[in-house]
Amino acid sequence: MSELGEGLDPDRMPRHVGIILDGNGRWAEQRDLPRTAGHAAGEKALFDAIQGALDLGIEWLTVYTFSTENWSRSEEEVTFLMYFNQDLLLRRRDDLHADGVRIYFMGDLDDLRVPELNRVRMRDAETLTAQNERLHLVFAFNYGSRLELADAARRMAGDALSGALDPDTIDPQTVSSYLYVPEMPDVDLVIRTSGEHRLSNFLLWQAAYAEFVFPEVLFPDFTPAHLAECVAEYQRRKRRFGRA
Ligand code: IPE
Ligand code: IPE
Ligand code: MG
Repeated sequence: MSELGEGLDPDRMPRHVGIILDGNGRWAEQRDLPRTAGHAAGEKALFDAIQGALDLGIEWLTVYTFSTENWSRSEEEVTFLMYFNQDLLLRRRDDLHADGVRIYFMGDLDDLRVPELNRVRMRDAETLTAQNERLHLVFAFNYGSRLELADAARRMAGDALSGALDPDTIDPQTVSSYLYVPEMPDVDLVIRTSGEHRLSNFLLWQAAYAEFVFPEVLFPDFTPAHLAECVAEYQRRKRRFGRA
């Protein structure tokens, strides 16, 4: 671990961190800029946070970049976010690959509102980085936890009907194995920037025992030092998992 991890206990690092990046629009509005300028500013914060996670030796990082509810924003903003996600991937993919990052996309990528080129680029990035193991980086894109769980239920029902799954054996592990990224461990720490205290349909199942930290900072101002501070706060918590 580098300087960033100073003061942290390397044996108690969260294995999986989730970030709900929030506050891009407010950051822009404070500067009399269009909301989309806030998203553009958030790109640096996002990739700095990924470097921070690499420095700290975090194994899994899931970032919420577009929710199934975000389609209800203006057409201009939605279009910007779609093309921005696509363009960003093209610009950053090779650097992430060189850093040993495995890229995943979790969400409804069959949705025809997601441009075809996005889907192709997402699949390419996953294939290119499939052998990497240093950091598992998951983009929750066109993601909604309820949709993920409904999809899992539908596929379980289909497998039960075809005889591939015995309904009597369904337990929480079975449900986990039907989620978008079955190998993903439960999220240990969920960070939401901008002072909002809600999940907004992010990792409802996986966050059953997560710790939550809510830094006030708007996402474009979020730095690796903030990430390290969130991890420090996590390490001060006492996780009980139901024990006395
Ligand atoms: C988060 O910032 C980015 C996305 C949801 C894509 P917002 O765009 O939600 O910013 P605020 O909450 O309006 O400030
Ligand atoms: C959650 O943020 C979605 C993402 C960060 C991609 P929102 O800003 O969309 O959430 P609400 O609408 O404030 O709950
Ligand atoms: Mg928001």
